[in-house]
Amino acid sequence: MKLRKSPLSNSKRSDQPDWDALYREGTPPWETGFAAGELVRVVSEIELPRGTALEIGCGTGADAVYLAGQGFEMTAIDASPMALDRARTRAELSGALIRFVLDDIFKFARTSGPFDFVYDAGFYHFIRRSDLERFLDVLWRVTQPGSYYLTLTGATGEEAEGGPPQVSQEEVRRELGRLFELVQLRPFRFESPRRPEGYLGWSCLMRRPMPAGDLSGTQETTHAAPADPVGADRNGESS
Ligand SMILES: C[S@@+](CC[C@H](N)C(=O)[O-])C[C@H]1O[C@@H](n2cnc3c(N)ncnc32)[C@H](O)[C@@H]1O
Repeated sequence: MKLRKSPLSNSKRSDQPDWDALYREGTPPWETGFAAGELVRVVSEIELPRGTALEIGCGTGADAVYLAGQGFEMTAIDASPMALDRARTRAELSGALIRFVLDDIFKFARTSGPFDFVYDAGFYHFIRRSDLERFLDVLWRVTQPGSYYLTLTGATGEEAEGGPPQVSQEEVRRELGRLFELVQLRPFRFESPRRPEGYLGWSCLMRRPMPAGDLSGTQETTHAAPADPVGADRNGESS
């Protein structure tokens, strides 16, 4: 008998799901249809500059639509055609102006950016397992000194079958601290249509350090970024 594989295992790369199949076959576990509550809290609590913003792995676009409504000049990228179709429809219905890009973020980042604010909900926590160095290179390329990066990532600390990949606080600090200064790291709960209480996560807001001597963005920090953290020079060219 031939077994039909789940999209979660039916991947083109063995370590990643077939994302488009997950969207085609119904509602993925992270899909709520509304902006993440934690994103809304961070944006309302912290004065982020209303400049250019990039959402990596935007899915069906609820967060991008929210950010556009808050005055960010939004670019939102996803590699799934089905997710982007739904995102475009959502943006049209809400009148949000968003530049949607159907592409692989690793390709996009070679020629695009930098952005003042970069956001992902549920991207860093899976990509780090196979491509941490490449993802740090992406983050380096799409940011500049003073840019903010917010990631919402699954957190260790609870048994949650079917939940997001879990990352410890130490891993978040160590991995992302190579590029950014920590602004805020706190627990929150991901909303999910599969589980009323949601899933435990880390909300991690970081900022790329200003060059030494530039006091315009002085901020309390816990990390100093190395001069050349991921083999990229200050112009974003690989060395
Ligand atoms: C866990 S989902 C999160 C979606 C959305 N942020 C949300 O919270 O609803 C991860 C998203 O990343 C997208 N993705 C995966 N690999 C990608 C890549 N290399 N480039 C761009 N998008 C990618 C998937 O298609 C999927 O929509």
